[in-house]
Amino acid sequence: MKILSNRSVNTKFNIIAVLLLTALFLCLAYNSYRREQALILKTAVDNARSIARQIIETRDYLSEIVTSEPEHNYNLVPQVAATRIAKRLTSGSRYYVRQVSLRYRNPDNRPDSFETAQLAAFRDTKAQEVWQVAGDDGKKALRYLLPMKAEPSCLACHGSYDSAPRFVRERFPRRHYSYGYRVGEVIGAVSVSVPMGGLYREIGVNLEHDLIYDGAVLFAYILVTGWLIKRTILTPVKSVAESIADVARTGNFSERLAERGKDEIGELIGSFNELMAELDRKTLQRKESEDRYRNFIEIAQSPIVTFMGDGKIVITNQKAERLFGLTKQELLGQRIFDFMENGDELRAEVEGNFSSGNSDLIGATTRQTVRDVCGRLLEVDMVISVSQADQNPIFSAILRPLK
Ligand code: HEC
Repeated sequence: MKILSNRSVNTKFNIIAVLLLTALFLCLAYNSYRREQALILKTAVDNARSIARQIIETRDYLSEIVTSEPEHNYNLVPQVAATRIAKRLTSGSRYYVRQVSLRYRNPDNRPDSFETAQLAAFRDTKAQEVWQVAGDDGKKALRYLLPMKAEPSCLACHGSYDSAPRFVRERFPRRHYSYGYRVGEVIGAVSVSVPMGGLYREIGVNLEHDLIYDGAVLFAYILVTGWLIKRTILTPVKSVAESIADVARTGNFSERLAERGKDEIGELIGSFNELMAELDRKTLQRKESEDRYRNFIEIAQSPIVTFMGDGKIVITNQKAERLFGLTKQELLGQRIFDFMENGDELRAEVEGNFSSGNSDLIGATTRQTVRDVCGRLLEVDMVISVSQADQNPIFSAILRPLK
């Protein structure tokens, strides 16, 4: 947060908006990526399942109905016919179908390592179907297996050697492991595979496009909101701040800002103008009363000096100027204590009044010795009164010379 604290509101807003929106977009993109991936996988599994079922149904049908023909036409052996049909079914698609068995007759139907593991699982755990996305990033593939169970009709060729048709016996000898199945036993499985890499890549490309569009929208959003905030909030607030700084620097309360709308900024400007008007009025009043006071002490018969708590002289009359032998300009800003014989005492008393709020000095007439600019000493009777100006005590001393 420290990095932010020194930035302008606009930058802060932009940084926060960029971070939040980027996080939001990334979440959305990730979500849609996952959803598309899941959808693609589900579609692939559904297709694989339906292909596998069609093949099993075809094979079961052939095994049941086409019983004597395979003797003369090997292409009508259920396995062989189903393999051909599967080829036609999937030609031109990305799906690749095999029918595999742990106890295969045709080496083409030997299962690979994945299929071997799944066939063993079908045999041992009676699982219904399995699928899995396997392979490295670029070559990911969906592997799907649906087990084939021995129907009574299958046993004609997969039951005992003795009851098998002659063409089967001729090809596969008595002790061949492709005999001896029982009804319900898993003979093999339809194995479907679909390469997923291309599909995943497509989602990746879609995602990239999404991110580019999102990025453009984000950028436009930030430009527009940044501009709006600057125009409607920051610039007006800045001009108010600048005016306040001006007033603080020059002490000139005559400045007014152009009124605008009734919104919050408009109210702020309105309040600023009201405050300025009030200060203007107060200053005028004070000036008038100061003038009155000046005129008043000017006609007084005695020297009068008005000074602040630290002794700095702020107002004098001609009589006082004459008393000290200095002009008004020379007197203003000097310390009254420097003109008193026992100035230190007086300062202590004034400061005492300053801190405790009362003093013997105030209101009482005391005898003092003042020193004029040439060092001449002069006895005076002094009376001090105190009043408040801008929260600070201000003292007025009447110094009546003793004749
Ligand atoms: C008419 C005989 C016959 C019938 C009936 C028959 N099969 Fe076969 N089966 C064969 C022959 C012959 C092969 C070897 C095919 C080849 O050379 O590709 C075979 C191969 C297979 C294979 C492939 C693995 C291997 O051994 O190469 C599976 C799996 C299979 N049969 C399952 C079945 C099922 C299930 C049924 C019942 C729905 C069935 N078969 C019915 C004769 C038959």
